[in-house]
Amino acid sequence: MRKNIVAGNWKMNLKRDEGLNLVNDVINLLPSDNEVEVVFAPSFIYLYKVNKMCLNLDRVSTASQNISKEESGAFTGEVSAEMIRSINVKYAIIGHSERREYFKETNEDLKQKVDVLLKNNLEVIFCCGESLNQREEKVHFDCIKNQISESLFHLSSNDFSKIVIAYEPIWAIGTGVTASSDQAEEIHKFIREIIAQKYGRELANNISILYGGSCKPTNAREIFSKDNIDGGLIGGASLNAESFIEIIKSF
Ligand code: PGA
Repeated sequence: MRKNIVAGNWKMNLKRDEGLNLVNDVINLLPSDNEVEVVFAPSFIYLYKVNKMCLNLDRVSTASQNISKEESGAFTGEVSAEMIRSINVKYAIIGHSERREYFKETNEDLKQKVDVLLKNNLEVIFCCGESLNQREEKVHFDCIKNQISESLFHLSSNDFSKIVIAYEPIWAIGTGVTASSDQAEEIHKFIREIIAQKYGRELANNISILYGGSCKPTNAREIFSKDNIDGGLIGGASLNAESFIEIIKSF
């Protein structure tokens, strides 16, 4: 079912104590009437511990920042879906633009990752988004449609319902430049529309679509007020408990 989610993507930041203190602080600052699902996406090496800290809490869960497309075997340095499932992690983020750009992940790779995640009963936060060039050349709608259709549209309706989409325009990630709430809403509406065309309106209305890219306490309320924006995937502003909490309280 469609729900409001605020996920903190720590990327390759925070040492052990910094990360664990952050989680503690966020948990302590969460309002008692919190209705937003809060997700921490730490580095793999803290995932087990952070997940344990969240296990008995309502609406607080964890995500891995990536996952191997392979199921198991001789893939030195990789982490499998089965492994993170075995420590009861709920989500995996895949397709982040940094993975697409620096690690050359393709739509086909992501299709394999989605399949291996769903097979292991994990839920997926699937990132998509265009570059500045693509926006200037006005091919951003095509770019997003291709990312979604090539990696996700082979799924059954039942499987697709376990996907959360995160729209993250690359030009807004870590740059301080945010998409305006109208720019973001335009794309979110488009994403819901292409899902509706493929899977029907009811399913499309139940999918959570998050915005990511320089989302912070000062702009979250405006962004989250839009009809098709169900929360955020937060990078920099998730590394500080006060700013992350402010964003969580922005609905
Ligand atoms: P940012 O990152 O909030 O630091 O722009 C968002 C993301 O990359 O998920």
